[in-house]
Amino acid sequence: MKRIPKRTTVTAALPYANGPIHIGHLAGCYLPADIYVRYLRMRGRDVAFICGSDEHGMAITVKARKEGTTPQAVVDTYHALMGKAFRDFGISFDVYSRTSSAKHHEVAQGFFKNLYDKGVFEARETLQYFDPEAQQFLADRTIVGTCPKCENEEAYGDQCEKCGSTLSPTELINPRSTLSGAAPELRPTTNWFLPLDALAPKIRSYIDAHSDWKPTVYGQCKSWLDAGDGLQARSMTRDLDWGVPVPVEGAEGKVLYVWFDAPLGYITATQELFGADWEKWWKDEDTDIVHFIGKDNIVFHCIIFPAILMEHGGYQLPAEVPANEFLNLEGRKLSTSKNWAVWLHEYLEDFPGKQDELRYVLCATMPESKDNDFTWSDFQTRVNSELVAVMGNLVNRVMVLNYKYYGGIAPAIRSLVTNDDQLVLEAIGAQRAAVESALEAYRFRDALSEAMQLARLGNKYLADQEPWKLVKVDAERTETVMAVATQVVAALGTLLEPFLPTSAEKIRRMMGISEANWSALDGSVLVSAGHPLGASELLFDKVEDEAVERQRAKLAERATLVVAEVAAEGVTPVAALDPLKAEVAFDQFAALDLRVARIVAAERVPKADKLLKLTVDSGLDVRTVLSGIAEHFAPEEVVGKDVLLLANLAPRVMRGVTSEGMLLMAEDPATGRLDFVAPGAGMPVGATVR
Ligand code: 2FM
Ligand code: ZN
Repeated sequence: MKRIPKRTTVTAALPYANGPIHIGHLAGCYLPADIYVRYLRMRGRDVAFICGSDEHGMAITVKARKEGTTPQAVVDTYHALMGKAFRDFGISFDVYSRTSSAKHHEVAQGFFKNLYDKGVFEARETLQYFDPEAQQFLADRTIVGTCPKCENEEAYGDQCEKCGSTLSPTELINPRSTLSGAAPELRPTTNWFLPLDALAPKIRSYIDAHSDWKPTVYGQCKSWLDAGDGLQARSMTRDLDWGVPVPVEGAEGKVLYVWFDAPLGYITATQELFGADWEKWWKDEDTDIVHFIGKDNIVFHCIIFPAILMEHGGYQLPAEVPANEFLNLEGRKLSTSKNWAVWLHEYLEDFPGKQDELRYVLCATMPESKDNDFTWSDFQTRVNSELVAVMGNLVNRVMVLNYKYYGGIAPAIRSLVTNDDQLVLEAIGAQRAAVESALEAYRFRDALSEAMQLARLGNKYLADQEPWKLVKVDAERTETVMAVATQVVAALGTLLEPFLPTSAEKIRRMMGISEANWSALDGSVLVSAGHPLGASELLFDKVEDEAVERQRAKLAERATLVVAEVAAEGVTPVAALDPLKAEVAFDQFAALDLRVARIVAAERVPKADKLLKLTVDSGLDVRTVLSGIAEHFAPEEVVGKDVLLLANLAPRVMRGVTSEGMLLMAEDPATGRLDFVAPGAGMPVGATVR
């Protein structure tokens, strides 16, 4: 059994105020956090739900410059937009703060000063690129140059987006400043480093004590600790002008590293929420601190922030960090800068009143242990076949029949309760227990499916008992069946509260119940006989094909716009697609002999870096095919793959080897990555493609 803490401080990652909230943010962190907090509240636990906007960091400065405005104006806009979208979506923060506030500057500076006075930091002089025209040091993202690996001329100082390599600014060939275009010069500057190398033993014993964390979280921490050269000291200050000024002498023109100040934003927000009474939420031993984040934030919450808290002293360290993986959208990575996203505020405009539908789908597909994909067709299917057909149907039938037979007055259990009645009544407690144990373990998908299971059982019960037929022959038994079904619906009004708060409230209104009551899901009577029910309300309605088509069209249009915009800036378009080729006649297509084939052996071709020599079973014969994929696949990776073969291509001799045919490949326009075009599972070798 898990220890039950006296109170729980739940935080959700402070989102950068440089763009709106999208579904990836929600599924990664805000939705699970909200479900968890709503659940704790229902169990009567003492909980504080903390969040706010992360208003510092380079992305904000870059955005402001691009839009010809100030960083403050950027964060003001997005702080307001994000706060409203969260509220409209039903994310129930107790406080939504922001890090550009004077109060936060004070808190962050206090922490820095504390560590500085204790001599925790190491002052180090390093050489950094300086823009002589703009007269300022340059952050990695504000320097571009030629990638040493792939010759992309627009690689950033920290990464080449074309080949994906991680870079440091001094590796770039012909670096230039994005502020002025000038060639930057290396100049010495002093910054303050947190010596994670020296702190590693302490951090290691903290992590080792948490081997029960999610495997992905614990594993990532271990790999940071066990990396070849171990943890490295990291600078906690930057030569920038937007951020929290470094509060020590000799640090003019420097600000705190955004990842030093951002997690402290949780503490600032707690102080704003509780005033003088805040300390127990961070310092008492019987408080659990739980950080909900996405996987890209793990190192900051599990290593750097705990190190800062340890060195400060007096604070509890994070007890749980249930980080999620990433959600993709229609097979592509979500991206704020590329506008490839479903934006929450737009969703709420396009689907007014349907926040629970999105909560449902995002929870059901939450990327808990691996990346997952959101597609509009899956959204439609889940809403229509689960929410409408299962949940909505059950509630609606119970309401309609209760009005029809009993004039909207809750029926009574009249006849002897049968085994079927008993089973479905007991399922209320059993499903509550199943939801509890899943939520306590941060398994949100399972928890939701256990809650839905009660609705499934309720539907099955009605279908089996057929009260609409029974009513003609046995009024007493009909009333018992309806009373049992009414209890199930009333239970859903509580059980669904953490997941679908708006719908749960509607169900309670229909049942004439004013409040959710988790502990009553133990066999207590939830709606007593004779109690007046509320008016019927529509819970969910079908998502029509047109609505889904509109969303898909919107995405397609945006993708095209982004390509055009990027091309206009003269940068290699990341997602530029090959233009459509000239039309072909059907006969030309039909002349191609395309087959499902299997690669049975593969080897490199001496002195040909790009070629693999493949032995391919086409169903008709076994032949040799040379394929230019050696830079993408090792021979052992491709053996056994089922692929598509152009089988009647004229043979060609390359490097002294005759190639008899060609394998179909797809190329990712953004990254240049190649992959096989694969037949569906179970298609036999030799099958014709038409
Ligand atoms: O990744 C992000 O969006 C960061 N702004 C998260 C910060 S979490 C916390 F440290 F504030
Ligand atoms: Zn590159």
